[in-house]
Amino acid sequence: MNIAILKEASPECRVAATPELVQAWITRGHRVWVETGAGSAAAYPDEAYQNAGAQGGSRTDIPSDTEVLVTVNCPAELPLPGLRWLIGTLSPARHRSLLAAWAESGLSILSLDALPRITRAQNMDVLSSQASLGGYHAVVEAAALLPRCFPMMMTAAGTVVPARVLVIGAGVAGLQAIATAKRLGAVVAAFDTRPSVKEQVESLGGQFIEVEGAVEDRQAGGYAVEQSEDYRQRQQERLNEELLKADVVITTAQIPGQRAPVLISSAMLARMKAGSVVMDLAAAGGGNCEGTVDGQNIRLGQALVCGRSAPASAKAQDASRMYSKNLLAFTALLETEEPAKWDLGRDEIVTACCLAHDGKKQGLLA
Ligand code: NAI
Repeated sequence: MNIAILKEASPECRVAATPELVQAWITRGHRVWVETGAGSAAAYPDEAYQNAGAQGGSRTDIPSDTEVLVTVNCPAELPLPGLRWLIGTLSPARHRSLLAAWAESGLSILSLDALPRITRAQNMDVLSSQASLGGYHAVVEAAALLPRCFPMMMTAAGTVVPARVLVIGAGVAGLQAIATAKRLGAVVAAFDTRPSVKEQVESLGGQFIEVEGAVEDRQAGGYAVEQSEDYRQRQQERLNEELLKADVVITTAQIPGQRAPVLISSAMLARMKAGSVVMDLAAAGGGNCEGTVDGQNIRLGQALVCGRSAPASAKAQDASRMYSKNLLAFTALLETEEPAKWDLGRDEIVTACCLAHDGKKQGLLA
């Protein structure tokens, strides 16, 4: 296939394919074209792509026989009218009308954020690889912003008590946040509506905050489901107690296809500890904190609220490397017996990711 990699729109620093992935595709017989500067924000210089065998140039020079565009985020426009495939983390819920228009024009669209969370798909799971780095970075950034130290320190000038970190949502990002905060010496508590994560939280040294009566649906693919009004009220009361004690709060609570639940109100922010830091990783879904603005740090009440929808972008080199490894595993499913030809085939993982083929919308876009 003739594959193109473009520079992602700012503020995204990641690049969809590292030179290592480009080389792997070329070895498999594909041709790869990389826009000048595509990897520079992730510390992958143009020369590394040239050495890997890629061609390149400015966007207007993109070869007219390009068949596939591989991206991190959903592009605002397509660089060529004749493109046949688009592969990326396209957030179909947010870019529905754009993707639908491209689908109708015959573009085959594969969105990696629709990947099933099954064991066989783990090495292609971009949601997990990026969320894990995001959870790590959120804690490191919060530690830098907090006017206090994370670990306990016993010094001649007195004892510094450890910071308290509260993690709301113990999915992939939340679990990595717990592990990172523990490593930095904080006292960590975590809450999730899925009681089954209790064991995982405790195995990382965190305290699991229990609220009785949560609904967990085994059919939901491991994701959280909507809770009853009574549960939500009791959850909020218990959370508020913890929020009053927290120095840092990392929020990651999301329910697929819905607005992120607002778990920290303005009234609560006004009562939190002075100087506390909230890293809201659910910012893309509207945020878990009232008043979160994606990409901004705002002082709300006593807290500094930082909206971060794509925290992995701050660790762009590793994030791109992991994204590329996921892509290599995913695109291996598309290979056919014919050299350098991709096909959708019948694999359940590819089918789940496919939003459009042959001019028909499907999956999350249907
Ligand atoms: P996510 O990003 O959709 O949500 C983050 C966390 O927020 C989840 O743990 C969710 O239960 C929690 N949450 C939602 N509403 C909440 C509320 N009101 N209060 C507190 N917490 C709330 O989740 P993520 O990280 O994408 O993981 C989703 C599931 O997929 C998990 O069960 C995870 O273990 C599973 N998974 C399975 C994999 C595999 O088997 N290949 C790979 C990665 C994840």
